[in-house]
Amino acid sequence: MHPPHLCKVFIMQFREIGVVGTGLVGLGWAVVFARTGLNVRMYDCEAPVLAAAHGRLSKMLEEMEQHELIEDPTVVLGRIAVAKSLGEAVGDADYVQESVFERVDVKHGISRDIGTLIRNDAVVGSSSSGIPASAFTADIPNRERFLIAHPVNPPHLIPLVELVPSPWTDPAIAPALRVWFKATGQSPIVVNREIEGFVLNRLQGALLNEAWALYDEGIASIDDIDRCVSDGLGLRWSFMGPFETIDLNAPGGIVDYAARLGPLYHALANSRHAPQSWSPELIARVTAERRASQPEGALLERMNWRDRELMTLARHRLAR
Ligand SMILES: NC(=O)c1ccc[n+]([C@@H]2O[C@H](COP(=O)([O-])OP(=O)(O)OC[C@H]3O[C@@H](n4cnc5c(N)ncnc54)[C@H](O)[C@@H]3O)[C@@H](O)[C@H]2O)c1
Repeated sequence: MHPPHLCKVFIMQFREIGVVGTGLVGLGWAVVFARTGLNVRMYDCEAPVLAAAHGRLSKMLEEMEQHELIEDPTVVLGRIAVAKSLGEAVGDADYVQESVFERVDVKHGISRDIGTLIRNDAVVGSSSSGIPASAFTADIPNRERFLIAHPVNPPHLIPLVELVPSPWTDPAIAPALRVWFKATGQSPIVVNREIEGFVLNRLQGALLNEAWALYDEGIASIDDIDRCVSDGLGLRWSFMGPFETIDLNAPGGIVDYAARLGPLYHALANSRHAPQSWSPELIARVTAERRASQPEGALLERMNWRDRELMTLARHRLAR
């Protein structure tokens, strides 16, 4: 493994970025890189999606300017080019961020193509939400240059990135990429070894599975369960994690908290020995209750509302 200072020099020279897949997540990544001054070339196999990308980016950047998160949308947009082919997007790239569909076959196909087209000193991060890189890079060219760089949606407004190397990823890459992502304004973590769902979605999954189960058992309504997070736990979680939370929630810190409430949490964990899948019937019930307050036609506007809330929060965090 390289000493950290060498990793820093090596990685901080990144200038050219390829973004593959320009859906929800790919566009957010393009903003992440371009706002820090890097040149981005983006590619999507769906021509209409790619053709619409600049227009969508322009709207995102204007809203960011209104929230004082960037200074000049035109300058940022000017750093983002549309590539006519995958080769044009990744051939000269120092770093490639892949954000195509979450399917092993699709990830495998695009990674094989990217592996063939990149320079052998480039690095490729996949936005995969839970499929580890070893599931789709085992037999591809330059496989030691690939790892997971999993963001939270949308990546330009939520900074966390999980870096998850495969068993064959060059061991120098994850620590060096961690330094580089920090310099781009993201908040990287390194997951020491592959595990399905990585850390973030395992945490999210624990909460989500419990929420479905509580609703299924008739314990509370969808809105009331949601408000336990939006008006409760989530307020603390927007600036500190579960370990720090419990350290501050008992006079004697973690030890004290564990003594007071450890048995309760153990009992709760024991009460969920037979997890149920989200059945079609349960999904239909949850959807019906949610649609009563949020009709399907209003979801896009609600997503925009979410992003504006996130921009206000991002602005607040910048000012701290
Ligand atoms: N949406 C989220 O909340 C979220 C959060 C974190 C990570 N992710 C991950 O990011 C990735 C992308 O998710 P998304 O939500 O942006 O999906 P999306 O459907 O919005 O976008 C995917 C894009 O990839 C393109 N694409 C598919 N195959 C391709 C190929 N072979 N070559 C080029 N382009 C191709 C599609 O045309 C589409 O525009 C997935 O791995 C997903 O799990 C999603």
